Amino acid sequence: MNIAVKTFRPDRHPADTYEEILERDTRPVPDHLREGPVPDIGTEPVKIDRYIDPAFARAEEKHLWPHIWQMACREEEIPNPGDVSIYEVAGKSLLVTRQADGGIRAFHNSCLHRARKLATLPGCKNEFRCPYHGIAWNTDGSFKDNPIAWDFPQWEGKDVSLPEALVDTWGGFVFINFDRSAPPLASVLNPLQEHFERYDLENCYIDFHVQKLVPCNWKAAAEAFMESHHALTTHPQLLPYLADVNSQYDVLSDHVTRQFTAQMVPSPYVTREYTQQEIMQAMMGVGSRSRAAVEGPADDIQIPDGVSARAFVADMSRKTIGDEDGHDYSAASDAEMVDALLYNVFPNMSFWAGYMPKLFYRWRPNGNDHDTSIMDIYLLKRVPKGAARPKPAPVFEIGLEESVLEMGPHAGMSVGLAAVFEQDMANLPHVQSGMKASEIGVLNFGRYAEMRIRLMHQMIDRYMARSMAAAAS
Ligand SMILES: [Fe+2]
Repeated sequence: MNIAVKTFRPDRHPADTYEEILERDTRPVPDHLREGPVPDIGTEPVKIDRYIDPAFARAEEKHLWPHIWQMACREEEIPNPGDVSIYEVAGKSLLVTRQADGGIRAFHNSCLHRARKLATLPGCKNEFRCPYHGIAWNTDGSFKDNPIAWDFPQWEGKDVSLPEALVDTWGGFVFINFDRSAPPLASVLNPLQEHFERYDLENCYIDFHVQKLVPCNWKAAAEAFMESHHALTTHPQLLPYLADVNSQYDVLSDHVTRQFTAQMVPSPYVTREYTQQEIMQAMMGVGSRSRAAVEGPADDIQIPDGVSARAFVADMSRKTIGDEDGHDYSAASDAEMVDALLYNVFPNMSFWAGYMPKLFYRWRPNGNDHDTSIMDIYLLKRVPKGAARPKPAPVFEIGLEESVLEMGPHAGMSVGLAAVFEQDMANLPHVQSGMKASEIGVLNFGRYAEMRIRLMHQMIDRYMARSMAAAAS
């Protein structure tokens, strides 16, 4: 599955590119932050049926979700033998289980007798005993005992182990693939591993984990976080310090794409000159009553003459993050201290790079409902040097009708961040209903800034076509 990457220069906004912003920074940037390949993904419209037709969702359940590597949990959530995390997607359910030898295996969460789910809650277990008739398996998936064995001659002398899925790990994340003949995880993540080497994801812990039910198809939810075009209208408060138009989008492989957006540089859309002090204050939420009330005003911080807000905030972050986790960030580039560096792995994961606390997003269908989805938002912080690993924050669920702005801070989200997610979420029910109301029946994505979305749809088609062909042969 290779999309031909040819040298292609799509039209860009005439403002400075992200590369040009990096030229003015105080430290050299690592090579992996330099501009990557941009293939011509075309300008074809994308059919709305893909989001609203239950038949398409059924096809995804059969031909997409069973074949892709997906993030099931963090390793730190199942540290000890017998620890189980339950991962569910599109009607499937797995018991992701830490083994006695430290490895991780994932068993299908369905009794081999009458198919009841073996467990509906995570936790540390010494067996998987079906609550219906009491037939039990060991936590390594081997058969344990059957209180009604006399009636099961068909199982005598047979292997009645629980079927399992592929499991692999990277960066402290546990990934699963239902397809036992899938290519290795490493081949799908490449070149993410190399780009993230210095960001130490495996030594990060979950600072918060918010799980939001979203009233739209999983793809529409993911697409709300894959471009900067919406900042102008959806997040106007960010424009004094977000170089939205200048964003760089790269396609590193069929599976790995990214978007880099400079912060502490005003959007080319803003019509008045902002002083460096005002740029910094806009970022700190000065003048925003709700944010200042919770996080404290920042108008007593003064940027010295001749220093840019970008250099100033990068330095401030080097110091505050360094004080917090004991690591040395003196050589870290400005970009790695302040910018939004988002990598997406097909089809439903987004990893933030850099040295700041890192967000991670995952999108899934909500069971078999194509009109709703689940968005997981994690914040990962580095374990302080020499300290014990803090306990991972528990999952904090926010319902379909509930507000991220109201609930997010209870999970540990900053008010400023919760407000941004609230703005994103406010669009989504109306995206789903608007797609159903559409007269033209297609979506028209931009050629450059939205090419990653277009590629995601092409890749979904490739995966599904391959699976359908295999099922037919
Ligand atoms: Fe947004």
